[in-house]
Amino acid sequence: MLLRRAERIDSALLESLEQRCFGRSWPAGYVQAELQARHAEFWLLQVGGMTCGYLHLLAVAGEGSLLTMGVVPEQRRIGLGRVLVEKLLARLTELGCSAVHLEVKEGNHAARRLYESCGFIESGRRKNYYREEGEDALLMHRALDSVKSAE
Ligand SMILES: CC(C)(COP(=O)(O)OP(=O)(O)OC[C@H]1O[C@@H](n2cnc3c(N)ncnc32)[C@H](O)[C@@H]1OP(=O)(O)O)[C@@H](O)C(=O)NCCC(=O)NCCS
Repeated sequence: MLLRRAERIDSALLESLEQRCFGRSWPAGYVQAELQARHAEFWLLQVGGMTCGYLHLLAVAGEGSLLTMGVVPEQRRIGLGRVLVEKLLARLTELGCSAVHLEVKEGNHAARRLYESCGFIESGRRKNYYREEGEDALLMHRALDSVKSAE
């Protein structure tokens, strides 16, 4: 198993993962812009030479966010989502963040359970945030151990 940071050359791979995991596409140019953005990172999870999952994080002013993550349908429920969340937590800690925030659809029970099992707690709700589906977003957060305190 290998986790590696995505580079500009990986944009087509990321586009195809987003399509496979969510059945949707990012707006044109979004991935390329995010791959070059100063505070954003994409990470890719490879198993046996195949890319099975990805995550997109943001770290700004000591606060981290999970923008999105996904595992391809054929490889779900074998622990890869947890591996990605653990990477998210470790990487944001390394970047000096003291907390991580995310938004998840209220009806996305798989993701909610995953986040809860990784120590996230619910901290709010955005009504009708996903307008097309008419669904609320739940806000979740988790504190991170600051690496700065060990310095
Ligand atoms: C959410 C997602 C990333 C989980 O990935 P995964 O690799 O299947 O997750 P894991 O195998 O690591 O599961 C870890 C825990 O999450 C929970 N979980 C994962 N899938 C679940 C499901 N379908 N139903 C209930 N709980 C689930 C369980 O607690 C599980 O632990 P367990 O297997 O010991 O019971 C995956 O379902 C996915 O890509 N979904 C589509 C995209 C998405 O919704 N992304 C998140 C929103 S940004």
